[in-house]
Formats: sequence, C-alpha cells, structure tokens
Amino acid sequence: GRLWRYVRGAPKAELHLHIEGTLEPELMFEIAARNGVAVEGTVESHRIRRQSFKDLQDFLDLYYAACDVLKTEEDFRDLMYAYLQRAAVDNVYAAEVFFDPQTHTERGVPFDVVISGLHRGIVEGHRNLEIRANLIMCFLRHLSEESALSTLEQALPHLDKIVGIGLDSGELGNPPSKFERLFERAAGMGLKTVAHAGEEAGPEYILEALELLKVRRIDHGVQCLKDSSLVERLAKEGVPLTTCPLSNMKLQVNSRYFGGRNVTGQLLEAGLRVTINSDDPAYFGGYINDNFVRAVSDCNLTERDVYKMCRNSFTSSFLSDVDKAFCI
Ligand code: HPA
Ligand code: ZN
Repeated sequence: GRLWRYVRGAPKAELHLHIEGTLEPELMFEIAARNGVAVEGTVESHRIRRQSFKDLQDFLDLYYAACDVLKTEEDFRDLMYAYLQRAAVDNVYAAEVFFDPQTHTERGVPFDVVISGLHRGIVEGHRNLEIRANLIMCFLRHLSEESALSTLEQALPHLDKIVGIGLDSGELGNPPSKFERLFERAAGMGLKTVAHAGEEAGPEYILEALELLKVRRIDHGVQCLKDSSLVERLAKEGVPLTTCPLSNMKLQVNSRYFGGRNVTGQLLEAGLRVTINSDDPAYFGGYINDNFVRAVSDCNLTERDVYKMCRNSFTSSFLSDVDKAFCI
C-alpha cells in the first residue's frame, strides 16, 4: 500500500549491516560447491534454522559457522555485490558496511584476500548499480586486545579502503573498556569509530563506548532506555543510534528486556537520532525496507517519522558534507 510505497521510494543510507550477515543459504551453497566445502542440510533446512534464535550468542554460533565456505577473493566480491544489488532495490544510496576480518584470518584466509574481494564488490557496485559503499572494519570483542591490535596492523596497507572501525560479537562480559587502546590508535590513524553497545548489555556499556572509545555512533543502543539521564545526554548531543528492529525481535531483545515491545517509537519520542538498519538480513528475515515497515506498523509511526529517520541516516553517515547535501 501507500506506506510501502513511501518507504520504498525514500532515499536512505544503511549504517549497520554486517556483510557476513547477508550470506543467504543459496549463495552459501553455491560458494561451498565451487570451493569443495561440505555443508550439511539444504537451502530449506537452513532457512528454517534461521527463523528463530534464543539470543545473540545462539545467532553468532550459526553466523560464524556459515562463514567457513568463504575462501577466495571471488567469494568476498560476490557476497558484497549480491548485497549491493539487493540494497539498491530498497533505494539505499550509500552503505557503510561492517566486515569481521578476524572471522576469516582465524580460519587461515589472508586479510588481503578478504579486503580485496570486498573492495572489488564495492567498485563494481558503484560502477554498475550507482550505489556507494564504504567499509567499517569490526573487531570481535570476544577475542583479545592483542588479536585486535595485530589485525589493525594488517589493515595498514589498506587504509584507503576503510572509513572506520567498529566493535561487534558477544557483548556481555566484553565491555568497551577492553578496547580503549585499540580505538585510540585507530582514531590516531584517521579512522572514524563506532561500536555495538546496549544491545544485550546495559546502559553502562553505552556510556563506556562514548567516554572511553569516543565513538561517533552507537550501534543498537536500545538499552539506553533503562537510564533516563543517558537518554537525555544522547538526545542533547545528537548521538546517532543505528537500530535494527528485526534483529531485536529475532534475538529476543524485545521479549527479554522490553516486555515484547518494538522500542523504535519510544526512542523517537525521547528525541534521539534514530536510524533504521538491517544488521544481518539473511538471518533476521528482512532487508532495510522490511525493517522500516516493521517499525512503522509496530509503533504506529508516520511518513514524517520515516522521512526523519532516512534524513538521520545521511546526517549520521561518514559521507562528505558535499555528498550529504546532495543526498538530503
Ligand atoms: N551484535 C553483535 N555482533 C554481531 C551482530 C550483532 O547484532 N551481528 C553480527 N555480529
Ligand atoms: Zn550488528
């Protein structure tokens, strides 16, 4: 109907998207076959397994296992290109795409293979699909500071292909403070910084990400609602939150922490700079426009709210001011 048409037509930027989380079962089997990797089950059985998750870790276990099929530069190119094709359909003008190098280097895939493949996908996407994309290198917070620092070293020859760094994986027990030195070093190299905080862990992780990691955006951040003084500060400082409604639903964040409610409406009412994103669309049952429609229908939002969140996505992005002005 009318709502779908408005959401579909609105230009938007996607700021919270894990490229490994766009690996659809079809592409996983296709890549597995050409690499001679055995994968149990069928496309259908994998679709069914992805229908629900107990929590973030239950999802992560499956997500990391699926990555085992990715081996060559071609694989990473194809993964990126497939995502950009799908995002273009949703009228995404620009995407800031997370990738997890450690997931691949720990399996023996060289860092250069990963980043060269993803970058090729971006170059071809820009040329053929007129969509822009930039890479944000994420560090796995369940691994050590030492592993993160050595991964940052490996990125040095490729800084021209990376706009910033982020922090993801299992949040509970792995607070931002663990990576204070990493973020300081990356900022010194001219990289922008973001971090997942307040997805499953409490508002104190959001505060640490701001104070210790000095991040420009908070990924998820929904748990700020548990601390009204933090909400006030985020609103006053205009800190962007990259929220992911379908992710929060599928990982039981809503059911465990918010009485089953989609909190997009509450975040907007609090005056926060909310953006809508898809996180891991091949696992959570929808791409960015599906996330908008879910938030609008769960929270009775208006077209004005949709417009505001699309505009927020550009103003919160790492695009140049000239590009921002062109997009808004
Ligand atoms: N949270 C933390 N780590 C992740 C996520 C997420 O939602 N998706 C992929 N890695
Ligand atoms: Zn995420």
